[in-house]
Amino acid sequence: MRLVVGIFSFLLFLWRVSSKTSDNFLQCLRKYSDPVNDISHIVYTSANNSAYSSVLQARIQNLRYNTPKTRKPEFIITPFKKSHVSAAVICTKNSGFNLRIRSGGHDFEGLSYVSDVPFILLDLFNLNAINVNVGAQTVYVEAGATVGELYYKIWEKSKVHGLPAGVCPTVGIGGHISGGGYGNMIRKYGLSVDHVVDAEIMDAQGRILNKKTMDEDLFWAIRGGGGASFGVVLSYTFNLVPVPKVVSVFQVMKFAEDNVTDLVYKWQHVMQDIDDDLFIRLLLQPVTVPKSNGKKVIRVTFISLFLGGADRLVSVMNSQFPELGLKRSDCLEMTWGESVLFWANYDNRTSMKVLLNQTYDADYLKRKSDYVTEPISKDGLELLWKKLVNIAKPGLVFNSYGGQMSKISESVTPFPHRHGNLYKIQYSISWKEPGEEAERKYLGMIRELYDFMTPYVSKSPRRAYLNYRDLDIGVAHDFTYEEGKVYGEKYFVDNFDRLVRVKSKVDADNFFRNEQSIPPLKSGGEKRKVVYAVYFLNAFATWLACAKWFLMP
Ligand SMILES: Cc1cc2nc3c(=O)[nH]c(=O)nc-3n(C[C@H](O)[C@H](O)[C@H](O)COP(=O)(O)OP(=O)(O)OC[C@H]3O[C@@H](n4cnc5c(N)ncnc54)[C@H](O)[C@@H]3O)c2cc1C
Ligand SMILES: *[C@@H]1O[C@H](CO)[C@@H](O)[C@H](O)[C@H]1NC(C)=O
Ligand SMILES: *[C@@H]1O[C@H](CO)[C@@H](O)[C@H](O)[C@H]1NC(C)=O
Ligand SMILES: *[C@@H]1O[C@H](CO)[C@@H](O)[C@H](O)[C@H]1NC(C)=O
Ligand SMILES: *[C@@H]1O[C@H](CO)[C@@H](O)[C@H](O)[C@H]1NC(C)=O
Repeated sequence: MRLVVGIFSFLLFLWRVSSKTSDNFLQCLRKYSDPVNDISHIVYTSANNSAYSSVLQARIQNLRYNTPKTRKPEFIITPFKKSHVSAAVICTKNSGFNLRIRSGGHDFEGLSYVSDVPFILLDLFNLNAINVNVGAQTVYVEAGATVGELYYKIWEKSKVHGLPAGVCPTVGIGGHISGGGYGNMIRKYGLSVDHVVDAEIMDAQGRILNKKTMDEDLFWAIRGGGGASFGVVLSYTFNLVPVPKVVSVFQVMKFAEDNVTDLVYKWQHVMQDIDDDLFIRLLLQPVTVPKSNGKKVIRVTFISLFLGGADRLVSVMNSQFPELGLKRSDCLEMTWGESVLFWANYDNRTSMKVLLNQTYDADYLKRKSDYVTEPISKDGLELLWKKLVNIAKPGLVFNSYGGQMSKISESVTPFPHRHGNLYKIQYSISWKEPGEEAERKYLGMIRELYDFMTPYVSKSPRRAYLNYRDLDIGVAHDFTYEEGKVYGEKYFVDNFDRLVRVKSKVDADNFFRNEQSIPPLKSGGEKRKVVYAVYFLNAFATWLACAKWFLMP
């Protein structure tokens, strides 16, 4: 009996500790609130607010992190103003919670809205202003806006300007740009971050810094090193790039009987040096088609954007890649804005306004990435087709590099995968069935495919793209340099150490951290253990003091 009461009192104590932290957090927010700058209407908590769960769910873009077991945030804060962000950062820090920063919520591993310790979710979707200045050829965009909104606003103002960024309209600026950002103009214009001319970031002290006031190295770090290790990115300003009035697209599908192996083999060789105006992505999928009698066969879809008219496209293809047999009738001419819809799989009757739609139909999913530096042999490709057909579910995307990407040095931004990388592979698997058994099965498939690819892809380190977040390649538990190096070198290669130095300068206490953040140099390990030890000793002593009464005879 005494033991039961003792345990109960201990639990009561732990509960007091945690509710105390929450009280502290709210008190702190009140301190930063005044009638002009009222923050209470943007704080959501599960205890009393039905909007809490709709705000939380709205940008959970991977159903694997939307289960009853998934830890939910203690509070959600949805700032309208930069001053709100400042209060959220300071109060989260003071009360000892972890902070998660969410813009579009497309982190493939949910790191923007899930944590394994009590946390505050800072959801930036209301900070979404976009200001296109055609005269100056620049655009200012806040972190909570989506890529689709950005494209729409540019298209509204000018039909001959664009921005190189991703193809999925609901992806958020905060995550997408801070992680690099690439799309179908990568061979002509490189990455999104290659066009950033200014940025605003909130540091751990709650100060807003811009390019002039922030450390030069910090400005470097948030152009590809991921925002979440360094602060809350509030906005980016870009130089717009010119796009022609008429661009062309095509999409052609090839099967075994089209000599698909020869085509993919050739594609690997020509894309490095072909006309910079041309981008061709390959989708490689096991499919069943009528003629295959229910059996899976390999299908390769060639999807292209060409920054020019269809006649020139056909002539480029006929001289450099005649094997594909591209015909004028395979090509569609349109404006660059319309090509954004084409690439997002909308048909040509869809209004551009669809780019403003923030809703994304989420699945259970897993993604992984690789870089290819040597063309895969025809035998290797044939083995890959067999493997894909056998595993039956995962698909691959090959994205051609070369062009401008080979001309930009790997240290200009933290994104290191430039010269010498022929193409990037994305591994992709999505499913609809809930539950751990399905998850185990599908994760098993994509990992098997990734293992199979080992001999064909980059080595030591086996490179990966930060924006294709993958916790399989390493996870931080104690936030030590050694832990960080495991995934950090795969994402950033030789730029990892500079990111660590920046981190040590701007956030030595490691307030901005997650399972794959950049560690500060002297961090973590011991310090964290000491904090825990003190915490538990304290808790135990207090409990002993209270429990003495119950335990005494
Ligand atoms: C359908 C789909 C298509 C995609 N296509 C492309 C593509 O074509 N090209 C490409 O490059 N990528 C692509 N991606 C990947 C995408 O770029 C990344 O998932 C990106 O990180 C998502 O950004 P987000 O703001 O939506 O995500 P979030 O989940 O909100 O954030 C991702 C990470 O960034 C951090 N973060 C977010 N906002 C901020 C901020 N304001 N300050 C500091 N840290 C922040 C988060 O904490 C998290 O660690 C695609 C993803 C999907 C789902
Ligand atoms: C919800 O609870 C928090 C903390 O207990 C409190 O500050 C806030 O005013 C409450 N909101 C509503 C709408 O009751
Ligand atoms: C496939 O390759 C063979 C041998 O090179 C060739 O004869 C045939 O025409 C090709 N088929 C197609 C559809 O290109
Ligand atoms: C729209 O697409 C269809 C088929 O893809 C094509 O036949 C038609 O010409 C296109 N319309 C316009 C206006 O481009
Ligand atoms: C927005 O997109 C979602 C998901 O694709 C869709 O269900 C919904 O109908 C769209 N809304 C509008 C207004 O187009």
